[in-house]
Parts: sequence; structure tokens; C-alpha cells
Amino acid sequence: MTWPRVKGTIILKAGNPQEEDRALEYAAGILKNGGLVAFPTETVYGLGANALDPEAVQGIYKVKIRPADNPLIVHVTGIEQVKELVRFIPHEAAVLAGHFWPGPLTLVFTKKELVPDITTAGLSSVAVRVPAHPLALKLISRAGIPLAAPSANLSGRPSPTTADHVLEDMAGRIAAVLDGGACSVGVESTVLSLLSSPPALLRPGGVTFEMLEAVLQKKILDLTAGKGEDFKGVPPSPGMKYRHYAPRVPLYLVEGEGSAQKRQLVALSESFTLQGRRVGLILFEESEGIFPAPIVKVLSSRKDPRLAAERLFAVLRSMDSLDVDVIVAEGLDEKEMGRAVMNRLRKAATEVIRVE
Ligand code: TXA
Ligand code: MG
Repeated sequence: MTWPRVKGTIILKAGNPQEEDRALEYAAGILKNGGLVAFPTETVYGLGANALDPEAVQGIYKVKIRPADNPLIVHVTGIEQVKELVRFIPHEAAVLAGHFWPGPLTLVFTKKELVPDITTAGLSSVAVRVPAHPLALKLISRAGIPLAAPSANLSGRPSPTTADHVLEDMAGRIAAVLDGGACSVGVESTVLSLLSSPPALLRPGGVTFEMLEAVLQKKILDLTAGKGEDFKGVPPSPGMKYRHYAPRVPLYLVEGEGSAQKRQLVALSESFTLQGRRVGLILFEESEGIFPAPIVKVLSSRKDPRLAAERLFAVLRSMDSLDVDVIVAEGLDEKEMGRAVMNRLRKAATEVIRVE
């Protein structure tokens, strides 16, 4: 059997156990030889390379066109493998790992010398996680190496949640993509640093701020509000300072609540329409029908931010193919999974309009 290709990039389907075994063997072979393979995780697709091989990791920065000062997350199969990479495991990290791994939580540790500088963009710390997707875990153990893997999109574009999204950005740039269907969480992992006290949230994600505080039984610091451009000097997590997740057209995010927010959504859409621009609306169920735009994408009910997160990047990507000139998006309450959804929407936005 031969696998399909797009511009030379092989699509490794893993439909039945036999197919899966061959796909994993092939993908692991590429990784062991210093190549790049995109693979599914429960959050988004990752662009994997041997985390301990500086040349392989260099390839990630090159194909993503990623700024050299933005460090990568290292993916492993469990806490035993973390011990090989980090100087020590703080007690709180062990507690959180016990609770949330495998799962969408990345923890920042002090690195051992074994981890190359390029993987951590020169930092003395390394970010590590154990993904919850069975194919990701099988791939890491089959390759027998920790995998550095950022999201498998071109830098600045919405993260990929299907193999097709990966191919949109990466066909012809990487050897292969392991196709494991759509990702269930839909936004990237939560990043938490335990190197500071109190612990600091560096990126909101699938394990919520509230869940972390409940398990640690202490306050943590949320360093993720805003677009991250306001950090003077070095941001606590380099990824914070970049515009991210951006569709190809301007996106206006309307934050606030109730009728004031709805009035602002309608007013903006109306004025763009009068200018002759084709408006794409991103709304929650409760606001469907507020404005008769030709293109409306509903994320979820306001009460179900987990579903909004799962769909968010696919909806942002779909706006590009629907040929809109401008996107108007409705904001959500910043609690539980709403925190991660709003963080991504703000980073995608060209302008944030806040109504009280
Ligand atoms: O869900 C995810 O985490 C996905 C999948 C593929 O696992 N990966 C991902 O990687 O989102 P990436 O490269 O797109 O995001 C890595 C984030 C960046 O915001 C980066 O600044 C932060 O993690 N990071 C990495 N190493 C760090 C470190 N040593 N200290 C602080 N932040 C770090
Ligand atoms: Mg990313």
C-alpha cells in the first residue's frame, strides 16, 4: 500500500491496527533520522522533531518560520522520562502531573544540559508535557526520544486541529503528517511555571486556572491577560509577545456583556456592510440572528466554552476560505475554559472593543 501525498508530504492514515502500526513505524523512522513529522495530540496537531538533536529542532524553526527566541514544548510519555531532562521535579509539579497527565498541561522545569539550547531558545528552563492522545504517546515511545513539538501551523496562523489544517500550512515543507482525526480540546495546553512563587500561569488552556488552584490549594498568578505586548523587557514566556492565531483578514473582537455587547456587534457589522465589505460573524448560539450577515459561524452556547474551544481554530481558518473581508467576533466571560478562548481571540484580533 502506498500512502497519499500532498506536494510530497505523506499522509499517514492510521485507520485500523495494522495500518496504524505501519504508520507509527514510518513516522518514528523519520523522527529518529532527524526529520519532521506532524502528529495529533488532544489539544492541537504538533510539529515533532527529536528534542535532543539541535539540527532536527532547527528544522522546526525553519519550516514554521518561527522566531528564534520562542522556545518549544518537549513531549514525553510520563514523569520517568521528565527526570532525564530536568534538574529536579518540585513537589507541586509531581502533584499536578499525578492529577493531569496525560493531559493538556505543560510544566516548566530547570533543564539539564542534555536539552539543547535551541529547544529552549536559550532559556535555562524547559517546558514539558505528556499528551493524552494515544497516537502521540505511541509515537513518542516508538521513536524512543522526547519530541519537541510546537503547533504544526506557520507562525502566526491559527493552530491546526485536523490533518487537513496541517497540510494547508505544511504540505511540501515536512516529510509526513500522522492523521489521527480532529483534536478534542482544540486549543493548546495550559502552560504553568512552578519556578516562581506563587506559580504563574503563562498560557490558559485545557486544564483551567480554576482546576489548578483547586488541586494546588493555593492562589496562582495569571500573567496572561491582554495581548502580551505590554511586557517591558523580557516576557515570562516568550510566546506571549507575538500576535498569534490570526486569520488573513482583520478581526474585531467585541467584549462585554448583554444588550450593550449585542448592540455593538450589530453596529460594527452594519457599518462594515455599508462600506461594501463582506462581514463574517463569529457568535455564540444565544446571539444567532442578531444581524443578517451572509456568513455566520456559531461557536457554541455561551454556557459551553469547552465546545467553543474545540471549534475555535477551525472556525478562524474557515473564514479564510469563505472569502470574507472582515471578521466581527463576540467575546465571552473569562472563566473556566472561557479564559483560554478569550486569550486566543484577543491574540487573533486586530482590535479589541470593550463595551460596559
Ligand atoms: O498543546 C500544546 O501545547 C501544543 C501541542 C502540539 O502539544 N504545543 C504548543 O507549542 O502549543 P507552541 O510552541 O505553539 O507553544 C509553546 C508555548 C509558547 O508560548 C512558549 O513561549 C512557551 O510554550 N514555552 C516553551 N518553553 C518555555 C519555557 N522554558 N518557559 C516559559 N514558556 C515556555
Ligand atoms: Mg503555537
